[in-house]
Amino acid sequence: MSSPNPFDQQKPIPGVHKIIAVSSGKGGVGKSTVSSNLAVSLAQAGKRVGLLDADIYGPSQPRMMGALNQKPEITKDNKIKPIERHGIKVMSMGFLVDEDMAVAWRGPMLFKAMNQLFYDVEWGELDYLLIDLPPGTGDVQLSMVQKVPVDGAITVCTPQNIALADVKKSLDMFQRVNVPLLGVIENMAYFINPANPDEKLQIFPKGDLLSFLDSKQITHIAEIPMMTEIALASEMGIPHTAQKSGDPVSEAYKLVAEKIMQQV
Ligand SMILES: Nc1ncnc2c1ncn2[C@@H]1O[C@H](COP(=O)(O)OP(=O)(O)OP(=O)(O)O)[C@@H](O)[C@H]1O
Ligand SMILES: [Mg+2]
Repeated sequence: MSSPNPFDQQKPIPGVHKIIAVSSGKGGVGKSTVSSNLAVSLAQAGKRVGLLDADIYGPSQPRMMGALNQKPEITKDNKIKPIERHGIKVMSMGFLVDEDMAVAWRGPMLFKAMNQLFYDVEWGELDYLLIDLPPGTGDVQLSMVQKVPVDGAITVCTPQNIALADVKKSLDMFQRVNVPLLGVIENMAYFINPANPDEKLQIFPKGDLLSFLDSKQITHIAEIPMMTEIALASEMGIPHTAQKSGDPVSEAYKLVAEKIMQQV
């Protein structure tokens, strides 16, 4: 007899009204950057927002949200209090263990860690919980989007055709678990030269993403440029959207937030 899968039973997260997963078929395309900027935009639209960094092996949100080396409080009933930054409640494995420790986790330890992140956090009431998933479409990601009732998913990708195969894998994963795909955010769509902001450079060649999405009737939610400023903002721990308003990037995120609020 096979051992029971601890993720078989789907359970809601108390107090959390809507859950949105941010995924990508491969690493480094900007999931964590998109998650943090979008979380701030949703909060700016008046929503109560949580950000769960589910990347157990490589948590990014402590740095991106300006909460590096923070240790969360534990409540009387043994719940973990998220760290609040930029109007967002943030939770990350990075707050609980040393960066180099989590890397070795497999099997039961991994499931225990996931359960803790999903169910032992005192979120309070949240309109939206964004889950910044680990990169890829393997068992861990699949378990995560099955474990909690995800209301919608966003896939982040870059423009070139090499990335398209990974987009397809993400779509396939969400279809298999019946999670509605809200659409795709094309990150690093072009590069804006910091010395001349009017100059757009196509770093990654444009591929067939748009026609592919069109053929599958999947929404192309937004195109976010690659900008030194965006990366610097994340390094500083203040997401771009928390620093600026009215510029094209913040406006793009504002539109993404509006689309999400309409759909979910
Ligand atoms: N639009 C952008 N413009 C400039 N830099 C960006 C942009 N998006 C992401 N980056 C930078 O690219 C790097 C990778 O981004 P990020 O960590 O968000 O990707 P990820 O998909 O979450 O990666 P991982 O798969 O490791 O979790 C970071 O240094 C980030 O600052
Ligand atoms: Mg990440």
